[in-house]
Amino acid sequence: MALTDDAAQPTALWIFGYGSLIWRPTFAFVERREGYIDGWTRRFWQGSTDHRGVPGAPGRVVTLVPEADARCWGAAYRIDESQRDDVLAHLDHREKGGYERQDVTLHFRDDAAPHRALVYVATHANPEYLGPASLEALAIQVRTARGPSGANIEYVLRLADALRAMNAHDDHVFALAALL
Ligand code: SIN
Repeated sequence: MALTDDAAQPTALWIFGYGSLIWRPTFAFVERREGYIDGWTRRFWQGSTDHRGVPGAPGRVVTLVPEADARCWGAAYRIDESQRDDVLAHLDHREKGGYERQDVTLHFRDDAAPHRALVYVATHANPEYLGPASLEALAIQVRTARGPSGANIEYVLRLADALRAMNAHDDHVFALAALL
């Protein structure tokens, strides 16, 4: 199927959130829809020294890792054209701890047609990246980490709650939440 902009809003900007952006959108949006992107999986492989940890004692937050056949559910927000620059500047600042914007193809739960969206991804090349660890090691780190945005455990549990509320299963998130 051809990738199209929204016919009614040819310049529509959609932001796809898969972590704290699902449950804590701190920007102006005109519409929120549940949706998914394919080829990406959510992992607690990114370190956080500016939100859920501090330098020397980083927390663990999610990033996206490419994986064939994976599907990642999240929340998509449509941004009004007049707010575009402000919202992107706000998000660039909020996600400055290693995340970069990427273009992705977004599908909505209730309409599988593809849409363009922006997503913030922290690749293995950023200095805060921590990479894979066992669930037990992740849980130990998450239990003790805390940063300017609050306790790391809150981030994990709120993400798990938000995904459950959307009926979006995620083995990795739910298994970590169950250990906490
Ligand atoms: C996101 O939520 O889309 C990015 C990661 C985060 O801020 O938790």
